[in-house]
Amino acid sequence: MSQDDRKRTAALAAIELLESGMNLGVGTGSTVNHFIDALAGWRGRLGSVVSSSVDTTQRLAQLGIEVSELNDAGTLDLYVDGADEANAHLQLIKGGGGALTREKIIAEASRRFVCIIDDSKLVKVLGRFPLPVEVLPMARSLVARKLVAAKGRPAWREGFVTDNGNQILDVHHLDIVDPVALERDLNQIPGVVSVGLFARRPADLLLVADGSGVRQLKR
Ligand code: A5P
Repeated sequence: MSQDDRKRTAALAAIELLESGMNLGVGTGSTVNHFIDALAGWRGRLGSVVSSSVDTTQRLAQLGIEVSELNDAGTLDLYVDGADEANAHLQLIKGGGGALTREKIIAEASRRFVCIIDDSKLVKVLGRFPLPVEVLPMARSLVARKLVAAKGRPAWREGFVTDNGNQILDVHHLDIVDPVALERDLNQIPGVVSVGLFARRPADLLLVADGSGVRQLKR
């Protein structure tokens, strides 16, 4: 089974969790795109649907699914999104697609966060995937220097502008043994908009697709 097939398998497992009238948050990325495709069958049956990126909003609109503002939707029942890495505590690295800030806001606004991944993304220690950090443009160099002091190796994602008009530093060579502490510390640096570490608010359910099916990891 190809990696894309495994992504689709995980996405379809999340479709099984939908209930009529639910307020739903929809993530961003190639795994969630399979989930969005399958949402076509749920058109008109959900409550408010909130999107984590311009790209996801466009995909939902193409299916005729109305997208609501989070400010109007209030608390969401379910948030479905992918991740770049996940550990056994359901802590995640996200933001490979640059949508981390809106994803983090939606995760916080949701009663239940279901993360869908293929098994290549399950790791013992987070940090092999470079940690995305969204920064205000004027603070990019300052934040990069602070990240170097924290033993990271930040690389500017040149030419990339987030949906919020900001920039991304991808931090390599981090061995994230205490994800909650690192998330807290990096959030303190002035100019950091958000950090792609989802540790303080991890997923509630991880659906991991491998060649033979979908494994569930719960908190
Ligand atoms: C988007 O910014 C990310 O957080 C994605 O959720 C993450 O990069 C997973 O993407 P794929 O499903 O494309 O691997």
